[in-house]
Amino acid sequence: MKKKKNSSGSTIESIMKETRKFPPSKDFREQAHIKSMTEYNNMYKRSIEDPEAFWSGQAEKELDWFKKWNKVLTWEPPFAKWFEGGKINVSYNCLDRHLKTWRKNKAAIIWEGEHGEDKTLTYQQLHREVCRFANVLLTNGIKKGDRVCIYLPMVPELVISMLACTRIGAVHSIIFGGFSAAALGDRINDCGAKLLITSDGSFRRGKRIPLKANADIALINSPSVENVIVVNITGLEVKMKGGRDHWWDDVVAHESTMCECVAMDAEDPLFILYTSGTTGKPKGILHTTGGYLLYVHVTAKYMFDLKEEDTLWCTADIGWVTGHSYIVYGPLSIGATSVMFEGVPNYPRPGRFWEVVEKYNVNIFYTAPTAIRAIKRDGDEWVKKHDLSSIRLLGSVGEPINPEAWRWYYDVVGGGRCPIIDTWWQTETGGALITPLPGAMTLKPGSASRPFFGIKAEIFDEEGQNVRSNQGGYLVITKPWPGMFRNLWGDEERFKSTYFSQYAGIYFTGDGARIDKDGDFWLMGRIDDVVNVSGHRIGTAEVESALVSHLAVTEAAVVPIPHEIKGQGLFAFVTLKKNTEPDKALKVELLKHISKEIGPIAKPEMIQFTEALPKTRSGKIMRRILKQIAMDRVDVGDTTTLADPSVVDRLIEDRKNL
Ligand code: WTA
Repeated sequence: MKKKKNSSGSTIESIMKETRKFPPSKDFREQAHIKSMTEYNNMYKRSIEDPEAFWSGQAEKELDWFKKWNKVLTWEPPFAKWFEGGKINVSYNCLDRHLKTWRKNKAAIIWEGEHGEDKTLTYQQLHREVCRFANVLLTNGIKKGDRVCIYLPMVPELVISMLACTRIGAVHSIIFGGFSAAALGDRINDCGAKLLITSDGSFRRGKRIPLKANADIALINSPSVENVIVVNITGLEVKMKGGRDHWWDDVVAHESTMCECVAMDAEDPLFILYTSGTTGKPKGILHTTGGYLLYVHVTAKYMFDLKEEDTLWCTADIGWVTGHSYIVYGPLSIGATSVMFEGVPNYPRPGRFWEVVEKYNVNIFYTAPTAIRAIKRDGDEWVKKHDLSSIRLLGSVGEPINPEAWRWYYDVVGGGRCPIIDTWWQTETGGALITPLPGAMTLKPGSASRPFFGIKAEIFDEEGQNVRSNQGGYLVITKPWPGMFRNLWGDEERFKSTYFSQYAGIYFTGDGARIDKDGDFWLMGRIDDVVNVSGHRIGTAEVESALVSHLAVTEAAVVPIPHEIKGQGLFAFVTLKKNTEPDKALKVELLKHISKEIGPIAKPEMIQFTEALPKTRSGKIMRRILKQIAMDRVDVGDTTTLADPSVVDRLIEDRKNL
């Protein structure tokens, strides 16, 4: 892969201006799991010098195994195996083992609906529902290793479905409810799912979104799916296909609330989660059982400084990895109380998040910078109206948090009392790799602080040499860790070439970063053609191929532009077929087309029609130049390698009139 210059050079500069430091308060430090830098340094050193001893110690202490492993780690780059020979079940660790303790009647999931309705599932209640649904899966012929796709909004049935899959060893693949029928169909076919769990619809800002209707379209070309289980959420009318489609309530009604756990091998697949890459085809990130569970458990414990009495609210959608790891698997394995929210931050009114925090006395609040920026724009009064004194820790994930948003989050939401953990990680990494430990580390707004235990993170230059402090480069992880993904579903070649070919046997993250003189990490954004829109990873190639699939379009190039709320937005340059009218109606149609092909999250902010795109003599589109034009800059850099440099002048001129 040819590496590109980081597109967000400006972020680095603005971050560098921020020099304030926030050490942990005495009160926080004294009650924390990790109380000082000395403690962190010692434990970190041990974890790096002897990772096998460190992780086997954690595995023994934190998880329940049916049978102990024979070998902690086999590392034949790029393939890692953790805890080989070990037998374990995720649903057992998230549920059954708590039933033997006082946690039996502790709230596992507190669910808050968009309209303020709520439901609490204790560990015991959740266990019953999971067993019942696991029996439904068995009745429908699902066996260990079969894939089950889940296309649901944020309702308790989503968590029940996930845990039911893990109970019997089925591999789940959750497709975010905002994805279109086409995107759903692609993912179902890629993993060859036998069963789909969906709902009639979902609520979104008071509107009802028809999920089952989307699923019906997807299923026309997805022959592997034999049965569909449909949750009734919105009351939307749906078509049920006889023999294939079944209502959730009907099928669970007759099942027993007891269901044996399958003893899984530590390296058996746990789930597949699709994420965007630099080509049009999404990648099926494959996580396995023992290592993933251990990693999310241990990170959740230390980064959230999670205690028995805490109520944790991670606002992510479970359709993304953040929800998998820190709403469901990490917290439930620990035996914590996890809040699950169906709604959005500002519906039916701004301040909705804070109503929920106040209602449940949330102690740990974990969200994304895009949400913070949107809430900040609504005005401080919406935050100040509510009593947020229960919060003791704030978190951020998904994109670099700009120091200004960080300070607002700290001052206004946290009342100047609460540490903020800026956690850096990826779908591929399973859990957080670079994160402050809030009782030990001095925070710097905009920095994700230090590598977690066992994580050897380094910054390389093109040649694979470590760069000097404060010099930007490519963030790589040079040792395996238990939570790392093991492969791309059905595409081992792409797994090797995307992640382990830049520097042989070393995990290439695709992010740029620098390490400052104190040893703290500063993330600089993606260095490939992946754009982070509101914390969602979108491959520009995916949007381009969606555009080109429209009859009127010959060619398209999509680049990121800065966006006040979303962090980054998309800007599309589109060349049309001859005799096509480049009018507003067509732009609207193209946006609709992208929604249909991928989902509304992939809609560009702006579309610019153009007769031609700037290309090199070998025909490669020069995105570097298009990025400058999209940002309305006239100085676009070197154009001498272009086949026809005059294209650029026309593009700049037309951009002004957009
Ligand atoms: C970005 C989400 C800076 C990064 C968990 C990464 C971040 C991509 C941070 C992964 C952060 C995530 N600071 N950038 N704290 N957290 N990112 O797979 O570019 O949806 O590669 O996983 O988000 O996004 P993904």
